[in-house]
Amino acid sequence: PKFPPTVVVSNRLPFVLKRGPNGNWQRHSSAGGLVTAVAPVVADSGGLWVGWSGLFGKEAEEPIPEADPEDNTPTAGITSAQIFPVSLERDEFEYYYNGCCNGTFWPLFHSMPDRAAFKHEHYDAYVEVNNKFAEKVMSAVRLLKQRSDEDEEILVWIHDYHLMLAPSMIRELAEAEDIHIKLGFFLHIPFPPWDIFRIFPRSADILLGLLGCGMLGFHVEDYCKNFVDCCRRLLGCRVDSTHLLVEHGFRTVRVRPLPIGIPFKRFEQLALEAPRVMGGTQKVVLGVDRLDYTKGIVERVKAFELLFEKYPKYIGQVSLLQVAVPSRTDVKEYQDLKNELDQLIGRINGKFSSPSWSPIRYIFGSISQSQLAAFYRDSAVALVTPLRDGMNLVAKEYVACQVHDPGVLILSPFAGAGETMHEALTCNPYEKEDVCDALDRALSMSEDERVMRMMHLRRREEVNNVDFWLYSFLRGMELHNLEPTDDDGS
Ligand code: UDP
Ligand code: G6P
Repeated sequence: PKFPPTVVVSNRLPFVLKRGPNGNWQRHSSAGGLVTAVAPVVADSGGLWVGWSGLFGKEAEEPIPEADPEDNTPTAGITSAQIFPVSLERDEFEYYYNGCCNGTFWPLFHSMPDRAAFKHEHYDAYVEVNNKFAEKVMSAVRLLKQRSDEDEEILVWIHDYHLMLAPSMIRELAEAEDIHIKLGFFLHIPFPPWDIFRIFPRSADILLGLLGCGMLGFHVEDYCKNFVDCCRRLLGCRVDSTHLLVEHGFRTVRVRPLPIGIPFKRFEQLALEAPRVMGGTQKVVLGVDRLDYTKGIVERVKAFELLFEKYPKYIGQVSLLQVAVPSRTDVKEYQDLKNELDQLIGRINGKFSSPSWSPIRYIFGSISQSQLAAFYRDSAVALVTPLRDGMNLVAKEYVACQVHDPGVLILSPFAGAGETMHEALTCNPYEKEDVCDALDRALSMSEDERVMRMMHLRRREEVNNVDFWLYSFLRGMELHNLEPTDDDGS
């Protein structure tokens, strides 16, 4: 799809800056699906990216370096002139990011209110930082406006729960300057049901912030329905629940399910090229997650322990390879989870290991895309069992990498991916017996059944890939100058 000039807005820029050996700043690609999916939009539309560089105070104001010539990630195509960094103070960031975003919204939106804390000073910082982002977006919009034709529409695309107030702030600023923009938002996490959402003391403000947009995208229809329902009950808006429309002021806001996809061909190619990293006859069950309590890693490891108790034939034959990427390490809930997991894995390995085999291999760190593709390709089973997850890209990446003897995907119905990946085996991550039985079924599945299931899963992800997601978003924005290009494939 061809994007109009676009300002992408997200908490994180597509890279973080770290000092290199000679003291100069260097770019390091940010992990995760958001960046990979959206980077080409900015690179190809000559657009701009507004976000936080990972630095504080004075350092955050230093010039942004260009990409390393060796860099072949999707962010390499974004020049320093396309980056509009938002500078945050350390204290402000602590309250906004660790406090409000990850201490309040993350658990609440994943329907885990017991883990959520509410503090007024955290929310005040959230408002303040959203304001800073809105101001920076306006500088970016003014620049694009100068550069583009009179009648060309400028698109502003805001991402995720860090910036839910920014849409109405940006709308107000743009209207005051009589600048016409199209505003879209995509939430990468679930939107919870009304009786969970209303626990947040300022829930109406969040809805009003989001309703500044012309269109709001969520991964699946249930999240859209939850949002529309909240607007009706908490704001008294007139809504059309069938067509997912919300009337607000004199505007009608469209709400759309837009399930995100992956760069399927890129993962497939990586899997075809990556050297073998795991040999031998023992089967590997793979888990790949940020170390986050929503991912159900503790529950998964306990189910794996039960596998050896219930089906001792797997002792010495099967092991779990768990990659846990460090995440939000300043938040207590995440520190506690790390300690709990370290102890649990230690106990289980102590119980079952022999000199030549241990049941669990655990990597606490991030790994390269090529190595990840090899892990996906060479694992007999991917165990994707979040307690709640907006989508889960790992499930999709695993499928794309099944280029040889296909493995089996076990998927939680509480991930957005569970809505469409029908040929996966499902299990309830809260019930370890169920996970354990799904594992037994996957490990003993016939080749014919594995091939058949994987063929359908792969076909769907190949078609509904990340380009399809981008195109669907553009269509939802109803831009008047949108014309499909030859390679849209839709
Ligand atoms: N990932 C990564 N480095 C790693 C392991 C995983 O960048 O060492 C990527 C993985 O390829 C996937 C993303 O992190 O694209 C995780 O996305 P997902 O939707 O599964 O979960 P999220 O972390 O967004 O909650
Ligand atoms: C999820 C969120 C993203 C976030 C990512 C990594 O995917 O939807 O917005 O960037 O996790 O989390 P972090 O807190 O490190 O940015």
